[in-house]
Amino acid sequence: MPGGRLCAACFVVLGTVSLIATQQAITKPGPIPKAGPLARPRSLQQVGVPAEATRAAIPPDNPQTPEKIVLGERLFFDGRLSADGTVACSTCHDPARAFTDGRPTSMGIKGRIGQRNAPTVLNALYNKTQFWDGRATTLEEQAGLPIVNPVEMGQPSLGAAVAQIEAIPEYRERFQHVFGRPLNGPDLLRAIASYERTLVSFDSPFDHFVAGSKNAMDASAQRGWELFNTRGRCNLCHALTDTKRDPTFFTDNTFHNIGVLVVRHNVVALARQAEQLIKSGDTAAIDQAAIQSEMSALGRFLVTKKEPDIASFKTPNLRNVLLTGPYFHDGSHATLWDVMDHYNKGAGLKNPYLDQDIQPLALTEGDIDDVVAFMASLTSPDYKEQGIKELARQRALSRTTRPQRDTARAFGPKPPQPKPPGP
Ligand code: HEC
Ligand code: HEC
Repeated sequence: MPGGRLCAACFVVLGTVSLIATQQAITKPGPIPKAGPLARPRSLQQVGVPAEATRAAIPPDNPQTPEKIVLGERLFFDGRLSADGTVACSTCHDPARAFTDGRPTSMGIKGRIGQRNAPTVLNALYNKTQFWDGRATTLEEQAGLPIVNPVEMGQPSLGAAVAQIEAIPEYRERFQHVFGRPLNGPDLLRAIASYERTLVSFDSPFDHFVAGSKNAMDASAQRGWELFNTRGRCNLCHALTDTKRDPTFFTDNTFHNIGVLVVRHNVVALARQAEQLIKSGDTAAIDQAAIQSEMSALGRFLVTKKEPDIASFKTPNLRNVLLTGPYFHDGSHATLWDVMDHYNKGAGLKNPYLDQDIQPLALTEGDIDDVVAFMASLTSPDYKEQGIKELARQRALSRTTRPQRDTARAFGPKPPQPKPPGP
């Protein structure tokens, strides 16, 4: 079976799907990041906030109240939600790192490592689906999955997490006060989601530029924004439509195979295996396959079982992207220059499912620097100082190592695409 190579490390079996354990737990996740000033709910008066979409993101059955938000914030930073008390949501979504963890793939309880990179929770309220493969729709639904994932927070069930929180008198009282009924699973998830909906992050130099301050972004970033919408072809996915510039969301809310390291896996064999083993709609089973097994590479296919979705992932919003590296669903690209090299050469790996919009771009080094400068201008003021340091760090790294660069391919013709294998 395809997982055989890794099976020395297998530790759990889901049906007959082998789940990859972490490498031996040599390290443990660090101390739980605390809620500081960067964890605070953000103002809705920031330049660039889409007022209507922000209102629309609040579901009727979970209205925002100040007390609920405070409760959700407390839970987000509380390790007692995890099986052994060591991991909170903030372990992997640390406000100091723009609500990510800085790791290629995340580390949960007992030092267990998953297969996916932690996206930011900033602006997650606008996502039409949650997770890289969109297997959850709402923030409430999303929040329940890491709690019970064995390599994240490791609870045997949501009920077990509720029991653990219920044993703390202060939480019992607060839940009663906020929801007017005893603590239960759905309300626990509502409180967390409610807090996440306050993490609205705009007000970047780009937002000020769009609002009319032409000097808010330097000339390089301005050229980058042009390239993003023209020769760079980024707008074909990182915009709501192909025809109109989208200065707000930077995503088409859909899924694409852009050729991130697909070759590493025998995806077709994996897809056949997944199809047989994971019953449609069993979100917890999909969650385990996505986080713990080689099937992670199948992306959206795990959810839809449709062949064109093999190794497709959600187009992420690009706000604060300077601070959310390493990049892509598997954290395989260290810098924004590496990301640009990936697109510039048109991925080009022998990948029958590659999106038609991916092709060699023939961008020069100057063009690449400009698009990176544009992406850096999407950094919100909370992270301004950190952004300056991070850009300098990535630039220095990119001057010595460019593992994804392939200039010949970037300036060459679009390679012929292999056909998908027959049934
Ligand atoms: C062990 C690390 C870890 C913990 C703990 C964790 N997450 Fe995540 N989170 C991730 C990873 C990795 C992903 C992406 C997984 C995927 O797409 O398959 C993710 C995805 C998300 C997303 C989806 C964002 C998007 O753009 O699609 C949200 C929202 C989120 N987590 C919130 C939470 C909340 C709330 C908690 C606590 C209840 C939590 N996370 C606990 C690692 C973690
Ligand atoms: C065909 C659609 C498509 C096009 C065109 C495209 N992207 Fe993407 N982008 C995606 C998808 C899908 C992902 C996630 C892929 C993955 O992780 O496997 C992504 C991921 C990224 C990421 C990583 C974000 C993160 O949080 O890890 C960056 C940065 C990015 N794109 C920038 C760009 C830029 C700049 C361009 C133009 C040069 C561009 N993209 C063109 C669809 C696209």
